[in-house]
Amino acid sequence: MAGSAKVLRTKLDYVNMHPGQQDVVAEVLEGLGQTQKTLSPKFFYDERGSQLFEAITEQPEYYPTRAERMVLKNKASEIADHLGAGAMLIEPGCGSCEKVRLLLDALNPSRYVAMDISSEFLLSSANAVARDFPDLEIQAICADFSQLDALALEESSARRVAFFPGSTLGNFDPATARDFLRAVRHLVGDDGGLLIGVDRHKDTGILNAAYNDQAGVTAAFNLNALTHLNRILPANFDTDAFRHKAFYNTEARRIEMHLESLRDQSVHCAGQTIDFHAGETIHSENSYKYTDAHFSHLAQETGFSVDADWSDPQSLFSVFYCRAN
Ligand code: AVJ
Repeated sequence: MAGSAKVLRTKLDYVNMHPGQQDVVAEVLEGLGQTQKTLSPKFFYDERGSQLFEAITEQPEYYPTRAERMVLKNKASEIADHLGAGAMLIEPGCGSCEKVRLLLDALNPSRYVAMDISSEFLLSSANAVARDFPDLEIQAICADFSQLDALALEESSARRVAFFPGSTLGNFDPATARDFLRAVRHLVGDDGGLLIGVDRHKDTGILNAAYNDQAGVTAAFNLNALTHLNRILPANFDTDAFRHKAFYNTEARRIEMHLESLRDQSVHCAGQTIDFHAGETIHSENSYKYTDAHFSHLAQETGFSVDADWSDPQSLFSVFYCRAN
């Protein structure tokens, strides 16, 4: 149930819409019951997983965060010209809120709505933004992406702009990406906008390296999803009996991450037994990559048109400003 409480300071509101335990268990069991076992990437992000993701962004092979940061930093004032001052900025999956910090001075929004599924992480990052930008009205909402339609946002005349950086869109398969962007379009309304960071389709070698870092941080991040399930279901996954596997599927234009069972084994998950044979995988993430043409088409299909785009000097990553049409 949604609840609301004021925490720490007057300019930060907290709303908890986190799905209940039963919904979570049912969702996990449904995915693990499929022929190709699957797990939503949202299960990466418990507190340790969120920290591991931050560590991934510092690996030399993982270019997306650095490239996007460079674009947001260098193009902040151009981006601000497109968005206009005083907007309500809504960020689904804000994580550390690190990206929005690069824009806040230039954008000068009237309100910042930070959404994330990891409540501890959300609260600490939103509080840190509140501390550093004391005049900004902030609302922190613990929710997942599927709950966008149910958000109770402040009624105001401010133009709504969704901020969706980090190539998070890449986690959605084409149909889900369309549904999500349509929900965003509904949320921001007819005069709204979307500022979105998208990882570009490119050389397979660069992509494979980015998801198979030498230090093994991505492997630890992937395997941590099992540790997370052990705690929340509960379950008894042996993380030593699975290995990280990631590769670029060129045809589908996506990185696939899997957790591969190293032997025949049975795992107890929330009172059920899940059998694995050696080599069988849990598909734990897709990370779709886009060409300009594919992204523009997706925007068109969901009620947006691309107004401007910016890239890093190596054209690894793109930031698009889309206007509702
Ligand atoms: C958070 C979805 C952008 O797809 O690159 C990083 C997550 N997974 N390494 C991505 C991730 C493995 C990341 N996103």
